[in-house]
Amino acid sequence: MIRKVVKSDYEKLIKYYRLFDDSQVELFPTDPFAHLLVYELDNQIVGFVNYSIIYERAEINYIYIEEEYRNKHIASEFMELIITDAIDSGCVNISLEVSVNNKAGLALYEKYGFERKAIRKNYYPDGDGVLMVKELVKDEK
Ligand SMILES: CC(C)(COP(=O)(O)OP(=O)(O)OC[C@H]1O[C@@H](n2cnc3c(N)ncnc32)[C@H](O)[C@@H]1OP(=O)(O)O)[C@@H](O)C(=O)NCCC(=O)NCCS
Repeated sequence: MIRKVVKSDYEKLIKYYRLFDDSQVELFPTDPFAHLLVYELDNQIVGFVNYSIIYERAEINYIYIEEEYRNKHIASEFMELIITDAIDSGCVNISLEVSVNNKAGLALYEKYGFERKAIRKNYYPDGDGVLMVKELVKDEK
């Protein structure tokens, strides 16, 4: 089940954020544009997503699924919700950055029609980043 983050989830979320970027750890509850969702299964959180809708643009900032719950289409469920929300909010596109070495991430985004638009040299500690964009059409869901 996908649901919005509540305060009692913060401890778990901080653990997830530390996997990505320590500098953001204390900031997530205060970002006015951030949408924070968790995936709950059997009364425990098994993944989260952070995306922003800033006027006509949407951006996926973080998406993470616990290892033992991967390949069960949980991230796909998040993606479908984000795309619907972005369309309903009148966004023209959704963008994100992912490492060129992140096979699972690239597969997920390409499944949902994101296209590789630019390479950002040394964006990640493990290599280059890929800027990916999905253009949105009004009647697409
Ligand atoms: C990337 C990630 C979010 C995918 O989550 P997931 O719940 O396993 O993804 P899904 O099960 O919805 O799979 C989506 C598609 O990607 C494909 N995929 C998933 N993992 C893959 C892998 N390791 N290699 C190739 N393809 C993969 C799936 O086959 C699926 O396609 P399909 O529906 O045609 O079968 C997860 O691997 C993860 O949390 N990784 C660590 C954090 C991360 O890298 N986040 C993304 C960058 S910010």
